[in-house]
Amino acid sequence: MKFRLISVENGEELGSRGALDVVFPVLHGTYGEDGALQGLLEMANVPYVGCGVLGSALGMDKEKMKMVFQSVGLPIVDYLVYRRNEWERSPENILDTVEQRMGYPCFVKPVNLGSSVGVNKARNRAELEHAINVAAEYDRKIIIERGINCREAECGVLGNDEPIASVVGEIVSSNEFYDYRAKYIDGKSQTIIPANIPPTIAEEIRRQAVQAFLALDLSGLARVDFFIERETGQVYINEVNTLPGFTSISMYPKLWEASGLSYDQVLDRLIELAIERHADRQRNRTSL
Ligand SMILES: Nc1ncnc2c1ncn2[C@@H]1O[C@H](COP(=O)(O)OP(=O)(O)O)[C@@H](O)[C@H]1O
Ligand SMILES: [Mg+2]
Repeated sequence: MKFRLISVENGEELGSRGALDVVFPVLHGTYGEDGALQGLLEMANVPYVGCGVLGSALGMDKEKMKMVFQSVGLPIVDYLVYRRNEWERSPENILDTVEQRMGYPCFVKPVNLGSSVGVNKARNRAELEHAINVAAEYDRKIIIERGINCREAECGVLGNDEPIASVVGEIVSSNEFYDYRAKYIDGKSQTIIPANIPPTIAEEIRRQAVQAFLALDLSGLARVDFFIERETGQVYINEVNTLPGFTSISMYPKLWEASGLSYDQVLDRLIELAIERHADRQRNRTSL
């Protein structure tokens, strides 16, 4: 099957004048970031910036992402996943298991979402029950993680098959954790670039960021987020974001600026990478 994307302006098809060279999906969340749009662009055979279908989908699913991290030996916090129907069938059993296996505090999240939507910290059984009910409104899978007392670090990755890592930045949240309010509403969270952490930890984070990028089969760009446990200094990988915030004040471009690449240079590089990946794919034989 073949189809083509066309450019439309005020309802009029632009014809050859509107031919698409490269698409830059500047969308977050469902359909934009989860591989759906990427699949459409693959079928239309148009070069596009950022991760492909598989990488995008893995980047959205906190359970499968963790399974891949685990398989290559990246350190992750303990977690449990439940389906919504299991929760509805046997809530008491699930609450008991979480209490035995995770204890408090723990974090409860919808598996497929982002921006801290539906994420809650539970300190006791009543909060846990409430948090699972909230997460179950957003997704059919719910993930529960051991809560750790941590600093939060982020690292930018850029490239295709030979990705490079930026310097590491730190997020200092204005709230008890980096919830929706602290991210987007109160404007009081701070970013510190480069993070004020020991060089060995920064190097470890940069190494893990590249390892995660390759393990999840990402391309173009990703921001990889980490926890550094306060008491032990232990680094845990939390998640990747395959379409990270990209305004001039967002972490991803700021990390690259501090690494010697301007905003414009990052954009140019991303477009080059999109075209390179598209060209590489054209080399694949598609018939016997
Ligand atoms: N296991 C955890 N321990 C401590 N804090 C956590 C944990 N999981 C999440 N958080 C806090 O919640 C925030 C949002 O969780 P995260 O997994 O990053 O979801 P999202 O994809 O919505 O950004 C994190 O930035 C962090 O502040
Ligand atoms: Mg996050």
